[in-house]
Amino acid sequence: MTYVVTEPCIKCKYTECVRNCPVICFHEGANMLVIDPDDCIDCGACVDPCPVHAIFPEKSVPEEWKHYIPLNAKYSKIWPAITIPKKPLPEANEFSKKEEKMSFFDENPGTGDIQ
Ligand code: SF4
Ligand code: F3S
Repeated sequence: MTYVVTEPCIKCKYTECVRNCPVICFHEGANMLVIDPDDCIDCGACVDPCPVHAIFPEKSVPEEWKHYIPLNAKYSKIWPAITIPKKPLPEANEFSKKEEKMSFFDENPGTGDIQ
């Protein structure tokens, strides 16, 4: 199993989730993070720190967000790893209240902190 970052992360990217992760499994895109399913050890330490509740165990991902399971698997192999929290996106507070954010998904990589 793995944990999965879903839609509420888009345009927020608070990055608090990476703080307690015991392995290197978060990867940074331009406006969201994803989790590498091959590296996640299912500890659940990333769930509570996320202010927008974007992270779910794979088996509990809400039906409308199931497509984030392959999205995490795909982009975690492309985007750089991130291990240290950084500032949220400037629009984070505004977008934390929005729904239906998939159209804002940006497939470009973020800067990460491990190359
Ligand atoms: Fe990291 Fe644990 Fe979250 Fe997996 S469940 S991404 S290992 S903190
Ligand atoms: Fe995204 Fe929440 Fe982490 S907004 S970057 S999953 S703290």
